[in-house]
Parts: sequence; C-alpha cells; structure tokens
Amino acid sequence: MVTVNKNYMKLPGSYLFSTIAKKVNAYQKAHPESRIIRLGIGDVTQPLAPAIIEALHKAVEEMAHAETFRGYAPDLGYEFLRNAIVKNDYKDRGCRIEADEIFVSDGAKSDSGNIQEIFGLDNKVAVCDPVYPVYADTNVMAGRTGDYNSAKENFDGMIYMACREDNGFLPEFPAEVPDLIYLCFPNNPTGCAITKDQLQKWVDYANKNGSVIIYDAAYEAYISQEDVPHSIYECEGARTCAIELRSFSKNAGFTGVRLGFTVIPKELKRDGVSLHSLWARRHGTKFNGAPYIVQRAGEAVYSPEGKTQLKEQVAGYMRNAKVIYEGLKEAGYSVSGGVNAPYIWLKTPKVMTSWDFFDHLLEKANVVGTPGSGFGTHGEGYFRLTAFGTYENTAEAIDRIRKL
Ligand code: MLT
Repeated sequence: MVTVNKNYMKLPGSYLFSTIAKKVNAYQKAHPESRIIRLGIGDVTQPLAPAIIEALHKAVEEMAHAETFRGYAPDLGYEFLRNAIVKNDYKDRGCRIEADEIFVSDGAKSDSGNIQEIFGLDNKVAVCDPVYPVYADTNVMAGRTGDYNSAKENFDGMIYMACREDNGFLPEFPAEVPDLIYLCFPNNPTGCAITKDQLQKWVDYANKNGSVIIYDAAYEAYISQEDVPHSIYECEGARTCAIELRSFSKNAGFTGVRLGFTVIPKELKRDGVSLHSLWARRHGTKFNGAPYIVQRAGEAVYSPEGKTQLKEQVAGYMRNAKVIYEGLKEAGYSVSGGVNAPYIWLKTPKVMTSWDFFDHLLEKANVVGTPGSGFGTHGEGYFRLTAFGTYENTAEAIDRIRKL
C-alpha cells in the first residue's frame, strides 16, 4: 500500500504567498473595476539591466551554433561565474572563499529549502520568529519537528527565536542550544539588519556549540550602513560553522530568470563529515545546473556596466522604501526596516490583527501587503510592505493608505 509523507499534513493551509495570491485574485474577480497595487510578495518590477540583456542575447546566439553550443553545465556551475562571484562578493570584501566552494543553483528559495537534506533528522532547528516560511516548512516536511501546536500557532520541537520591537527585531541565543540555526540578514520580513559585531557573536556561539548557521544573505545589495556585513564570512571563524545562501533575484531582478548560489567552505565538518562533500553529492545527483545563458547573465551582473546599472536599480527600490517609510511614519504608523532592506515592517493599527489589516487595505485602499502573522506568531500585529513596486504605484499606494 502506498503511504504518503505524513509530515506534509502537519502544515496548516497553503504556502503564505499562494494564500495571498488566491485571496487577491478572488477580490479582483469580484471587483474588476479595482486597480489593485501589489506590495505583497517581494517580486521585482524593473526590467533586466541592459548589460544583462546583452549577455543573454549573446549567449542565446552561442547556443545556435554547433561550435559554441553548450549542453549540461558543470556540476558546481561554470567557472566564469564562480570566479566572478569569488572576486566581487568575497575577495573584494576581504573574505576567503574559493571558486570550488560555490555551488551555482536556480535560486536561493530552492537552496534554502533543500539544504536541510544533508542533515540528520534528529537535529534541533532554530528559526527566527517572524521568519521566511521556507526554512520552517521544509524542516517540517522532512520530519524534523513535532506536530503543529494550534494553541501556540507553531510547531512542537522547533526552536523559535522571538524578534520583537524590544530586542530590535534581532534573535537572542535560545535557552536550548540548536544544531541548525537559520539566520537571514538583512532580514525578511522585518527589514532589520545585523551589525558585524552582533553577527560575530552568533559565529562564536555556533563554533563553541558545534551548531551550523544557515545564513541567507539574499538582500545584501540593499545594505547602506557601513557596520552591516554583506557576508557572514566577514566574521572571524565563519568558515567552520556557516553555510551562506545568495540570490540574484533581488540584487539583479532575476526572480523570473532564476539564479543563486550556496557557499560551503571545505573545512566545515560535522559528525566527522565534510558538509561540502555532502552538498556536492546532493547537487550532482539532484540538480543539472542553471542554464548556460542564465549563468552568462549572472556573469554580467559583475561587469562594470552591470554593476553601475544595478546600483541604480537598487537605488530606485530604496527610493520606494523611503517613500513607504516616511509616508507611513507621517501618517502615524510605527514603522521599521527600509534602510538596509527593501522591506518595511509596520505595526497594524490598534485592535487589528495582521489579516484584518490585510483585508482592510485590500478592500479600502486596493493595496496588497503581507500579514506579519504569516511569518510566525511574533509577526502578529505587524504587516510587511515591499519596496519592489514601481515608483508611481508605491507613491499612490502610500497616498491611498494615508487617506484611510
Ligand atoms: C518574499 O516576498 O518574502 C520573497 O520574495 C519570496 C521569495 O523570495 O520566495
């Protein structure tokens, strides 16, 4: 008799952004005249930069000729891309990372969901609360937690590190020492950042306790403050305790193109085994490489023209962040984030839950955001707006919210 993975049945409802999309589509169907502005999912709106388009065209042309055609990509990704990553993302920032420690993939969402596969099911997992749901849900699917606890509205057996206003939305060392620690900075959803000194404390903690930090740096391009690290490898000792996940989605607009990478230093070992070798085995077996044309597009992100164009793109989104932050603040909302990240985290008006506020904004302002409780219990009473819309839509959305 066929049985199913019953861990999936522990998950309540559908994936957060699928639930939101369904709700918004139903509302739009019932109100076809409404011009809805979507500041919910962190999806980019600016077109790919010219340097990237040019690289894509060139690579497509190469695929049309026998002499330059490419089939399967090398296991870890093309060297031209891995070398560009090493130079620009690591060497230039003073971090020691080698090209064969980079695993090119189709994006950070898949990597952040898949990385748990190389760890035993008996590991204790710690996540921030609120948290990007993928880290928690994939560990539930794998069976690394108990059941959903409807009283607590989270999963038994998972360690939740509360990120609240009173601790600056930063996690504190939990009472029970975790084996796997997921950290995302600049943070999704709160938009807050961690300083290098604060991150160093987590690195020291992980090394002392034998934990592994899975560090999601998908939003590093949005960092504007000097003391905020772009990579965990800027911290002393991170090579022996940290895996880093990177994305091209937000820094280069690849949400629909798909490209990312994972870094696992070779000296990172647990249980006597190199985690690099396990991920290499997994990657080789289950993944056949990001497309050649997309890896060429990724290389263009690091070209001088690409860098200049993307700096402007990021600045455009951060201009939106400022419009949201300042507009809401003036309107009396309590807001945070938006300085080193493209997310603004606001408190819902008194007595409104996150989902109440979602419905209120959708119905009264035709603006879509993301309810904080969708990211965890400590997200209740909060709401996330993304800066990834167009400038015009962002300004109009804030105008509409202010008039409520
Ligand atoms: C988000 O809105 O939190 C992210 O964009 C979703 C994702 O990257 O999967």
